[in-house]
Amino acid sequence: MSAGHTNNEDALAGTTVLVVGGAKNIGREIARRSADAGAKVVVGARSMESANDAAAQIDNARGIAIDVTDEASIAAAAAELRSVDHVVVTAAAHHNVPVAELEHDKVVTAFEAKVIGPLLLAKHFAPIMPATGSFLLFSGVAAWKPSAGLSIMGITNGAVSFAASNLAVELAPIRVNAISPGIIDSGTWDSMPADDRKAFFDGVAEGNPVRRTGTLDDIADAALWLLSAGFVSGETVHVEGGARQV
Ligand SMILES: NC(=O)c1ccc[n+]([C@@H]2O[C@H](COP(=O)([O-])OP(=O)(O)OC[C@H]3O[C@@H](n4cnc5c(N)ncnc54)[C@H](OP(=O)(O)O)[C@@H]3O)[C@@H](O)[C@H]2O)c1
Repeated sequence: MSAGHTNNEDALAGTTVLVVGGAKNIGREIARRSADAGAKVVVGARSMESANDAAAQIDNARGIAIDVTDEASIAAAAAELRSVDHVVVTAAAHHNVPVAELEHDKVVTAFEAKVIGPLLLAKHFAPIMPATGSFLLFSGVAAWKPSAGLSIMGITNGAVSFAASNLAVELAPIRVNAISPGIIDSGTWDSMPADDRKAFFDGVAEGNPVRRTGTLDDIADAALWLLSAGFVSGETVHVEGGARQV
């Protein structure tokens, strides 16, 4: 047995975890769970008010304004924070329409939120992170299960996965990983009419091997593991109930 083994459960204690997109849904749950694991949490959101409101609900947390489509806001946040251990980014701006209806600016915004934003976070935050630090990006099952009308979601999610493997080499020894969620009852679907949402979730459950939709815990469990899994880098971890297998 090698010396110096650290318990994964304790690995986040005392570290600083920035969660960009941390004011709601999956990001907020990862922020909460990181704080429970003993991390100092920084909630990043486009609105300072949302960031502060979310941070106020979490022990040992503060808010910061970051819009991943605005490089100046990323640079300002890095300058203000001066040092962080882990950066998680859940930002997304989907443009789910058939190709015939694509709008150039919305395609660009989708790539900015999911792909270019994380690259700019890497540019500005890697220099203030220790060798033991990590980035956690968010891909999604649409990349591996293409559907008509969801091409931009699929392509941007696929690019996130390649970003994780490429950045893992370029930013080494800082680790870079991605989670690819399946359909998660994260809150993001709450705007659907209740009957439509139930039918959608029932269809998702019938269509994957574990026969249910994902939960915030499913994603937060994987996220906390990846933040502390010191020998895992460049990976995409699929948390989607086996959806790609069927
Ligand atoms: N939930 C699912 O079923 C599912 C499935 C596959 C993949 N995913 C991926 O998993 C990630 C998290 O999912 P979710 O359900 O929590 O998504 P969500 O409800 O859309 O939350 C995304 C978060 O990102 C923030 N955000 C959006 N644009 C931003 C920007 N330009 N700069 C900074 N923050 C920005 C949002 O904040 P504000 O809007 O409040 O500013 C929000 O907090 C996303 O990348 C999503 O694509 C989710």
